[in-house]
Amino acid sequence: MSGRLKQRRVGVLGSGEVGRRLASGFASRGHRVVLGTRDPDKPELREWLSGEGGGVETGTFEQTAAHGELLVLAVLGTAAEPAIADAGPDNFSGKVVIDATNPLDFSAGFPPKLAISGEDSLGERIQRALPDAKVVKAFNTIGNRYFIDPSFSEGKPTMLIAGDDEDAKRTVGDVLADFGWPDPVDIGGIEGSRELEAICIAWVKIGGARGAWDHGFKLLVG
Ligand SMILES: NC(=O)c1ccc[n+]([C@@H]2O[C@H](COP(=O)([O-])OP(=O)(O)OC[C@H]3O[C@@H](n4cnc5c(N)ncnc54)[C@H](OP(=O)(O)O)[C@@H]3O)[C@@H](O)[C@H]2O)c1
Repeated sequence: MSGRLKQRRVGVLGSGEVGRRLASGFASRGHRVVLGTRDPDKPELREWLSGEGGGVETGTFEQTAAHGELLVLAVLGTAAEPAIADAGPDNFSGKVVIDATNPLDFSAGFPPKLAISGEDSLGERIQRALPDAKVVKAFNTIGNRYFIDPSFSEGKPTMLIAGDDEDAKRTVGDVLADFGWPDPVDIGGIEGSRELEAICIAWVKIGGARGAWDHGFKLLVG
């Protein structure tokens, strides 16, 4: 175990690239990780478990949420609330929940729009669905290939986080430090998800315009 976060049981809800990347990242730091999906036996997951996902177990969303002392929500944004309902909101009580989701709406094609915007955000909806959990938005403004040990030719980008609970944000700061993001910038309460989710749209538009997905945002102070 190389990082500062003591060994924990971690539950990662989501079996896409984001969930897999974070699950293998936590496993690589010595945590006991379950990755949650609607179908724990699906062949592509079994293949992943025998390679990059070595050391990770799979479970249903409910088993995963019950397992984790620390939880990560990494599902399709528009499925976040149903996934939480499947997982059982009581299984989140008192826990830190890292919310990596974005409420992307591709119904009108590329670039996507935000399915939730203005005076609300998916991060806030997730916190409202889980009133006894401590939700911290993180990882949603950068491509998943950079989540663990990010390496850029022009220096590290900035990880932006938001959440209501200060202790939870310190815990997420420890996770980030272990993953190679030593200086996250905390933009305040969970309502900051409104800005962080909008930044994802800017990130996607820039990727589309450049035809490349190897960029990140950095906060510079003069
Ligand atoms: N791609 C990136 O680099 C990136 C970076 C930052 C943030 N994000 C955000 O991270 C989240 C995950 O992204 P992703 O690219 O890994 O995969 P994704 O395709 O957005 O999500 C896959 C996950 O969503 C679940 N899901 C889909 N429909 C569902 C439904 N109707 N009910 C319950 N669960 C459902 C899937 O369940 P099963 O496991 O059962 O298939 C799977 O676990 C998204 O919100 C995305 O916007 C993505």
